[in-house]
Parts: sequence; structure tokens; C-alpha cells
Amino acid sequence: MKRLFLLHKMPYRNYRHRRVNKNMPYNKTKVGIIGGRSVVAGELLRLLLAHNNVEITYVESSSKPDTPVGSEHPFLQGKVSLDFSQFDCDFIANNCDLVFVSRPHMQSATVIEQLHREQIKIIDMGADFRLQDPGLYPAWYNVEHPCPSIISEFTYGLSEINKAQIASSKRVANPGCYPTSVILGCFPILKVDGWDFSRIIVDSYSGVSGAGKKASDKNHFLNNYGNVIPYRFGEHPHTAEMEQALCWGSKSTKILFFPHVLPIERGIISTVFIPLPPGNKSTQKELTELYQNFYRKDVFVRVQEGYPEIKNVAHTNFCNIGLKIDERTGYLAITSVIDNIMKGAAGQGVQNMNIMEGYPEKEGL
Ligand SMILES: NC(=O)c1ccc[n+]([C@@H]2O[C@H](COP(=O)([O-])OP(=O)(O)OC[C@H]3O[C@@H](n4cnc5c(N)ncnc54)[C@H](OP(=O)(O)O)[C@@H]3O)[C@@H](O)[C@H]2O)c1
Repeated sequence: MKRLFLLHKMPYRNYRHRRVNKNMPYNKTKVGIIGGRSVVAGELLRLLLAHNNVEITYVESSSKPDTPVGSEHPFLQGKVSLDFSQFDCDFIANNCDLVFVSRPHMQSATVIEQLHREQIKIIDMGADFRLQDPGLYPAWYNVEHPCPSIISEFTYGLSEINKAQIASSKRVANPGCYPTSVILGCFPILKVDGWDFSRIIVDSYSGVSGAGKKASDKNHFLNNYGNVIPYRFGEHPHTAEMEQALCWGSKSTKILFFPHVLPIERGIISTVFIPLPPGNKSTQKELTELYQNFYRKDVFVRVQEGYPEIKNVAHTNFCNIGLKIDERTGYLAITSVIDNIMKGAAGQGVQNMNIMEGYPEKEGL
């Protein structure tokens, strides 16, 4: 994966699409969505329809071509008049400037392999181009990557951390939902001397929409309602994405990641436990200020004194972060909350599109 994090926090300027004179015509970005029936695509459509600089020109569904988009996403009825289309590389190349791909893992790679020779910009909402090392896909996703030679074309799209690289990229791998919460929660402290990140523990809880539309034990109402479901202890593939992002210089990180499903529609709460350095002198207040300073220019990250709660970020693109020190046991606990479909997927996708297209970062959000 190219230029991962190396230019962190470099200023970015990419205002070529902005009107310098209000009499000039404003060229909107023509946007397509592949995997248009997905939960994430529904949210993307909702955001893009309200975006001032976007025209939606294409929405793909392989299982429901020629049916109205509003029939799959009823909350969009009356707002979108498009029908779903079959995947059509030539049509996309001729009618889209940028395409979001919102398919399950390895189903994105198969269409992106066909699209990547075209000049259009691509934002992949799935996992297929997030891991830099193709050798990690068999280990974490149980498959050989179908097109390893194009992985290096993709920039990891964690907007706050990789803004300058995203601005100059044509290919962006949008981060996973759990990794967005965890990496934003950990990143400011990575560079602080004395802290040991070689083994950290992450305890995460996601709303049921994180599992997408397909029925499963985790999203079946009878099993999910009134329940909290632990799953994939130590083996969730998002672990590799977090470990990739949180290695710093020659230091590597092993993450023990324990995800759970909550009986709520949307939202993620992740708490990262990091041992305090020997003879720690940093207070909770000082670390909170360090975080506030780190994210002072980032409109979607709010560092707070109290405990972050999902309800304060649900349906928004915010990530709220809070830090607690327990001197007795010697741990720092960093809690981070996001909406998994917004900052964890569609919201961050639109934020990345804004950065790539030179639009105000908050447009449509
Ligand atoms: N849900 C979240 O919170 C979240 C967060 C971050 C990232 N993501 C990522 O975003 C992408 C979409 O996630 P989602 O949860 O929105 O998915 P979803 O609701 O389960 O929908 C997936 C869509 O992919 C299409 N598809 C194409 N080939 C498929 C296949 N072989 N098997 C199943 N579906 C296939 C289906 O549409 P057709 O039937 O029309 O082909 C389906 O509507 C995934 O890569 C996911 O990992 C999701």
C-alpha cells in the first residue's frame, strides 16, 4: 500500500474543483456505486443525494438489475429515480468520475481488477485493498488475493491520519469500522516516548448493522435482541489492519482483539488497554490535552473528558474519544465511539471523496 502514514499531518491543498468565479460553470463529480443494495450503499446514497457537488450516475446490483433503487432502500423513495444496473465497465468508465465499491470481501477485488485500468477514481469500502502485504490475505481472509499486483495503487483512507496522501490518490481503501475506532483512538500516543505497544488489548462492541444485510445468527432478531454476542476472539481479520496501521518505525504491535455484537442498529464502542510506562508521569489531563492538540484541526474527531457513548455519535461522522488512567493496575484505557455505517464506512467514504475532489471536508456530512 503506497505511502502509508508517512506524510502524516502534512497540509493538503487540492482546491482545483472549486469555483474561483461564481459565473464559472460548476462541474459536479459524477459518482457511481457498485454493490448498490448493501447497507453501506444505502447510507452512501443518502449522503450523496444531499451533496452539493455530486451527481449520482450509476448504481449497480447484480441480483436486482432494472429495479428501482428506492425499492431496496425505501427511505430514498421520491429522492432517487435511478434503477439498479448490471456491472458494466465501459458504462462506468464513460459516465463516472469516481466509483464507490461496496461489496463483500474479494467480491470488490474482482470488479476493481477490471476497472483499475480506467482513469476513474475508486474508493473501496471493503477490505480487499487495505492490507499492504498480499501474504496476509490467506492468513486473515482464508483466500489468495486475486490481484495482488494492484494493491500498491491504494492509499489507506483513514481521513485524519492520511489526508495528504488521500488528496493525491486515485485509489483509496476505506478503512474497516472497528479499525477506524481503534486507530483514531491509539494514533496520537504512538509517537510518545516510553509507551510499549508491543501487546495491546482491544475490547469492541458493534451494532448489528456491522454484519450487513445477509441473515446470520448475529443479526437474527431472536438471537440478537436482549443479548450481547462475543465472536471471533483473537481471529477477526480487522486485527491485521489495526496491527498494520499501529506499527511505528521498527516497532510492531500485536493486538488481542475481542469483538462483540450489541442489540442496537448502529454504533461501535472500542476500548484499548495499554500498560502505563514504568514510572509514568503523564496525567489523564495531560494525555487528554495531547489528544485534543493532535486532533485540533480535524472536524470529525472530538476528544472529551468524560466517557464517550455511542448515542452521541450515532447517525453522524464523528469519532468521540476519552482517556482514563488507572494508577492502581497501571493501565491507560482509551475509549473511542463511532457510527459504524458513517465514520466506519459511508461517512468516511464521502469525507475521503471530498478530500480527493478538493471539496470542503464536511460537505454532505
Ligand atoms: N456494514 C458495515 O458497518 C460496514 C462498515 C465498514 C465497511 N463495510 C464494508 O462495506 C462493504 C459492504 O458492506 P455491507 O455491510 O453494506 O454489505 P451488505 O449489506 O451485506 O451487502 C453486500 C452487497 O454486495 C453485493 N454482492 C455482490 N456479490 C456478492 C456476493 N458474492 N455475496 C454477497 N453479496 C454480494 C450484494 O448485492 P447484489 O445482490 O445486488 O449483488 C449485497 O447487497 C463490505 O465490504 C463491508 O465489509 C461494512
